[in-house]
Amino acid sequence: MLASSRLTFFSCSSFRHKLRLHSLNPSSLNPKSCIRPSFFVTKLSVNLHSEDHFPLMERFWSATSRGNSSLVDYLQQHGVIKSSKVADVMKKIDRGLFVPKGNLPYSDTPMPIGYNATISAPHMHATCLELLEEHLQPGMRALDVGSGTGYLTACFALMVGPEGHAVGVEHIPELVTDSIDNVQKSEAASLLAEGSLSLNFGDGRQGWPDLAPYNSIHVGAAATEVPQPLIEQLKPGGRMVIPVGRFFQDLQVIDKQVDGSLKVRIESSVRYVPLTDRQEQLQRF
Ligand SMILES: C[S@@+](CC[C@H](N)C(=O)[O-])C[C@H]1O[C@@H](n2cnc3c(N)ncnc32)[C@H](O)[C@@H]1O
Repeated sequence: MLASSRLTFFSCSSFRHKLRLHSLNPSSLNPKSCIRPSFFVTKLSVNLHSEDHFPLMERFWSATSRGNSSLVDYLQQHGVIKSSKVADVMKKIDRGLFVPKGNLPYSDTPMPIGYNATISAPHMHATCLELLEEHLQPGMRALDVGSGTGYLTACFALMVGPEGHAVGVEHIPELVTDSIDNVQKSEAASLLAEGSLSLNFGDGRQGWPDLAPYNSIHVGAAATEVPQPLIEQLKPGGRMVIPVGRFFQDLQVIDKQVDGSLKVRIESSVRYVPLTDRQEQLQRF
């Protein structure tokens, strides 16, 4: 339980849960309102495996700071990264370029980036890349809501390549500026210059309609309800990964079927900063 109480101090980190598949026909929902997951996650059963995930989390917290490549090796050794493509991309996008100076960029924890926001923990970035990999193939479109430092948007951009689009949306303008600076120093700089990667200022709850529909949508902040515009901007056959809840959240994996219906499962329990109004975020604490 020591690890459990320590986790509450961090955001954007995860507990692993047992998975269950669930179905939803969105035609039964009010299109004007946000979708309430509790309406469509039926027969939900989540089992916490304390005996296996807490020791694992303890090992994450004690990860050393030997460099980006060692961090990725470490996540591979512990089974968080299984895909060689994900490992390759995370090795190319150096986390050290995205973490504010004075922090340990290669330890597996979230870090503060100002404005009551964080860069997510490496194991969360890896988990989301793994979950979305099939929907981040060359030429596909990816939306990163709450793009923060731009780290994950840059990873998405390398995955979808110059023929695809990786679009970040962030509601703190200073973070958008910082994220552009970060990406310009990274392996994804040419994609930013060419326009297949963009980092935008806006309210991510509205998505980014200009380049919709998206094969993959990642939401990097916790929603109390899945925003309806994001459901609408998800392409049939596409996948959204979004933390849903208040204090502790469920990391939901939402697959839009070709007929438009949604399948939802819970990947794990996580702790993210809220997907919220800008003033509310800046006034927090
Ligand atoms: C966990 S942080 C950053 C995550 C990002 N993936 C990273 O690792 O750098 C979540 C981000 O969501 C942003 N955010 C919160 N609510 C938002 C909203 N309504 N629209 C856009 N961004 C939002 C916060 O400002 C913050 O930068």
